[in-house]
Amino acid sequence: PAPHRIQDRNVVDAAAVEAKLAGLADGTLDFENTPDTDPDLPGNRAWGREIVNKMVGSTLGVDSVAKAMIHTEDELNTVVETAVSASESWQAMGAKARAAILHRAGAALEARRADLLEVMGSECGKTLDQGDPEVSEAIDFAHYYAQRGLELYTIDGATFVPSKLTVVTPPWNFPVAIPAGSTLSALAAGSSVIIKPAGQAARSGAVMVEALWEAGVPRDVLQLVQLSERDLGTELVSHPAVDRLILTGGYETAQLFRSFRKDLPLLAETSGKNAVIVTPNADLDLAAKDVAASAFGHAGQKCSAASLVILVGSAADSKRFHNQLIDDIRSLKVGYPQDPQTQMGPVIEPAQGKLLRGLTTLGEGEKWVLEPQKLDESGKLWSPGVRSGVKRGSEYHLTEYFGPILGVMTAETLEEAVSIVNDIDYGLTSGLHSLDSGEMAYWLENIQAGNLYINRGITGAIVQRQPFGGWKKSAIGAGTKAGGPNYLVGMGSWEDAPVAQ
Ligand code: ALA
Repeated sequence: PAPHRIQDRNVVDAAAVEAKLAGLADGTLDFENTPDTDPDLPGNRAWGREIVNKMVGSTLGVDSVAKAMIHTEDELNTVVETAVSASESWQAMGAKARAAILHRAGAALEARRADLLEVMGSECGKTLDQGDPEVSEAIDFAHYYAQRGLELYTIDGATFVPSKLTVVTPPWNFPVAIPAGSTLSALAAGSSVIIKPAGQAARSGAVMVEALWEAGVPRDVLQLVQLSERDLGTELVSHPAVDRLILTGGYETAQLFRSFRKDLPLLAETSGKNAVIVTPNADLDLAAKDVAASAFGHAGQKCSAASLVILVGSAADSKRFHNQLIDDIRSLKVGYPQDPQTQMGPVIEPAQGKLLRGLTTLGEGEKWVLEPQKLDESGKLWSPGVRSGVKRGSEYHLTEYFGPILGVMTAETLEEAVSIVNDIDYGLTSGLHSLDSGEMAYWLENIQAGNLYINRGITGAIVQRQPFGGWKKSAIGAGTKAGGPNYLVGMGSWEDAPVAQ
């Protein structure tokens, strides 16, 4: 195998790592997606068991979070001023030197893969099978954006002027990949970064940042903060010295942040309410498997998750599809990630509000195919729920729940199914299961969502292959997609706009 395809996680070949970094830095190696851990290798299974055993009582990231705590406005101003002045040397260093550091950051994230899995499991309830591709994605962002950063500075007749200071406010559901992607994109473009990980994922964000520091990203250029008071959050995202904000979170949060400082460029990936359409021309076995995985991976806590499946025509009557889907979901082993048998973990906080309503109440005409059961007193552990009879225009049809619930709808035709999807205000991911090329073409032409997947699950976008981003209420101010060729363009401005050839 090529030297960069390290699969046994117990074997670290330092010379191969250096060779890969050198090849990436001098351009002789192309970007390649980082392989996930192969659980079929016995060595990797032992490696995984050790991680799982360390999840309870893990203290990874605690020290960094404690040091990052900001208590006053003065402390916050100091962090901001330091980051702004550090941006000068970071910009002056040049894209090539920055890229070399970012490639090293990719290697540092790989070196800390076990730590990242441990902290995500311990803090956010993420199982190994969900966390492992997330670490790979973070590594991919490092190498991919390092290369794209070089291109920004090679466009004739235009000078790219990066932001001085980018503030990154990531969510807790992808506590490593999303903070890493946002941070690395801004760093690659030449901006300083202040990152404020979500409170529920503070340690996971901290360990990710530690890896970047270990790789040589200067601590003044990349600063980690947590805030002791809510008001300090408002101060941070409305601070006049900040010139770009990257937010991944709810639509309402993005609107709120925007209201603080209307002139601040905002790149926001927001909410989703995503559907998979299954037609009678689908491979129904594959469809059932993909719908279950897309709905219940990480207990449905993904902006990309499938919350609806829309069965077209006779697909609605297929006993085979129904049985496959329900068996698949019913057999999911629900538990905590420190139990290696667990396939679906807990939700991040005791279910309340909208999520609790989604787990416990039905709309008119709906019935439970699988009724969610509260499995312990924590309020976080729920068995997966499936409801049928969801009506067009109902609360369930249009609301994002962010938890382990799937709703089944039916439509007479593909056209009707597409219009049911397009009724939704959000447009992040969408899926079609059909083997008919005419149906694919119709769906591609008419469906309103940013990431379209045919005969595949609708979560787990892969850097470079599936650049990720939504439209409608799923994105604000974006227009370019994370993990795609143009994302870094959003990290600054052009002195002379490039003219299309
Ligand atoms: N990028 C994440 C996914 O595709 C949200 O599932």
